[in-house]
Amino acid sequence: MQTLFPARAELSQETGEKKRMDKKTFYITTPIYYPSDNLHIGHTYCTVATDAIARYKRLRGYDVMFLTGTDEHGQKIEEKAKAAGVTPQQFVDKIVTGERGVQDLWKLMNISNDRFIRTTDDYHVASIQRIFKKMHEKGDIYKGAYKGKYCTPCESFWTESQLKDGKCPDCGREVHDAEEEAYFFRLSKYAKPVQELLETGTFLEPASRVNEMINNFIKPGLEDLCVSRTSFTWGVPVDFDPGHVVYVWVDALFNYCTALGFLNDRYDDYDRYWPADVHIVGKEIVRFHSIIWPAMLMSMELPLPKKVYGHGWLNFNGDKMSKSKGNVVDPYILADKFGVDALRFFLLRTFPFGSDGNFTNELLISTINTDLANDLGNLVSRTTAMVEKYFGGKLIPERESDPLDEELIAMIRSAGERYAAQMEKFQLHQGLDEAFRLIQRANKYIDETMPWKLAKEEDKKPRLATVMYNLLEALRVSLTLLTPFIPESCGKAFDQIGADEAARTWDAACAYGVLPAEVSVRKGETLFPRIDAEKMLAELEEAEKAAKGPQVKVEPVLPDVDIEDFAKCDMRVCKVLKCEAVKKSKKLLRFELDDGSGTVRQILSGIREFYEPEQLIGKTVVAILNLPPRKMMGLESCGMLLSAVREADGKEELHLLMLDDSVPAGSRLC
Ligand code: MSP
Repeated sequence: MQTLFPARAELSQETGEKKRMDKKTFYITTPIYYPSDNLHIGHTYCTVATDAIARYKRLRGYDVMFLTGTDEHGQKIEEKAKAAGVTPQQFVDKIVTGERGVQDLWKLMNISNDRFIRTTDDYHVASIQRIFKKMHEKGDIYKGAYKGKYCTPCESFWTESQLKDGKCPDCGREVHDAEEEAYFFRLSKYAKPVQELLETGTFLEPASRVNEMINNFIKPGLEDLCVSRTSFTWGVPVDFDPGHVVYVWVDALFNYCTALGFLNDRYDDYDRYWPADVHIVGKEIVRFHSIIWPAMLMSMELPLPKKVYGHGWLNFNGDKMSKSKGNVVDPYILADKFGVDALRFFLLRTFPFGSDGNFTNELLISTINTDLANDLGNLVSRTTAMVEKYFGGKLIPERESDPLDEELIAMIRSAGERYAAQMEKFQLHQGLDEAFRLIQRANKYIDETMPWKLAKEEDKKPRLATVMYNLLEALRVSLTLLTPFIPESCGKAFDQIGADEAARTWDAACAYGVLPAEVSVRKGETLFPRIDAEKMLAELEEAEKAAKGPQVKVEPVLPDVDIEDFAKCDMRVCKVLKCEAVKKSKKLLRFELDDGSGTVRQILSGIREFYEPEQLIGKTVVAILNLPPRKMMGLESCGMLLSAVREADGKEELHLLMLDDSVPAGSRLC
């Protein structure tokens, strides 16, 4: 019989003030997002992954600084704002801080960032100006003229040899010739030290990305980088040369330092956290982070980040999601339909972090059903239900173990270590594998021990208590390992199995015998209900359709006409004197109009299904008057009323062209 739980006693001694004082720091960042459109599930993937790593490190006792933010300058934002008729600042404010914007999304997704930087923040702008000046004074930034191929959406200049089939190698879109007076950064000077840095094998991961950088960018020869622009104004001004704004990538990359207070007094923890332990970035921006970024830091004589990790893309139908390709998946819809934790879990469980993955709703549903509803959900609900049913929710302290328990207990003790080995390498899906191995083993243990049989014999109560205790312990450890991924659900499940704060720590996750002997358990709500795939797919289709708005069919523009031909059309403003339905016609309305000539004009128009005749009396409309008269239903129509027509969701919509009443009858349209 076992009544003592030594693991627990050891734990409480270890958590002291001293331990907190010795905390090691861990600085982790996501890319700062470009707020030219609302974020999609691909962006969410990157942030959720970074969040899981940050939470894991906090669990391991690190003093974590997790930074995310938005990269708000550049030509594309300037152009989009102009098209929307607002200032660039108003444009980005809406996407960053507005309803269902970037900050709302991170709150919804339970992202635990410690700081959020916007590159339009004053302190950042001032720091960037100081940084630019320093590199200029050092001679690493000099003035020249830039000629090259420019990709506007990517804000990137490319050399001829870097283009892919004459197009932007990142996004595949058209590039154009561009030339402007500009400042350059002496990137070429740093080619050798950057190559050496890449060759250490620890700076950039996964390893496959190292060869790509060296072979595609360094070996062909690193050219100096154009770091200022004069063709637009939405950027950090170069304060010693008005008219130039700092290249958006210089502005953006240094956010990792300015957000800690580098060359500004907004924050004061640069010395504490810099250099970063890891920058998590998508594969297409590895080039900026592993070549340009270290070179600029070398120029500034600053310590280099310890690691850049380039994750893969979440694709949709085999292609990278992007608004312009119209294949973005909306995280708000998915979080609403499946729950935040289920979505977070799916993203990290399904796709190996360094590789690309293909998103489908079917895969999302089957992952939730298999892992969360079946494996984890069942273990929680069966275990808590049995402790309630057989023990009224509180275990008895007597225990009776059996050799059958050994394998499960060994796994409970060792899962944490194997999980940590994967998490330290950012192999998040493998880390999750370790947690699920334990969950699956515990489910098998239920089948092996058959608690329902033990419950039938009174003298088997101590054995039944042992089985239940072992299941609760397996659950406790699994939940700790899952907490970085699905924090809210784990919190609820911990409450159900009676795990207090001390039982949720990392040290506790590596031990067996942590829950008290007479642990109290209460069955709660089902954490992950099973999803009916067919019903859910239909609901998703509806939600996506509603979010997209009506599908409008836009007619192609007709071939050009001469201005003389256009001028032959006599279009006039008319006042509706009388309007009535034409007898026996389902379509026609008969109008009597004042066209300014002093005589009454009759026009028939097939718009009955869109308007009640009484609605139109007194309105100011537009008609083309010089069409040959036409007979319809025995009546003569002398002209045609103008309407705006479109096809939306397969149905025709019609709006009669109406003007403000102040426009007099007979006025010509030209
Ligand atoms: N503003 C720059 C980053 C500057 S960091 C100093 C930028 N912004 S972004 O909004 O375009 O992309 C932000 C991140 O989201 C990138 O790491 C990018 O790879 C990632 N993703 C965008 N679409 C993605 C997928 N479909 N899949 C995975 N990640 C994706 O780049």
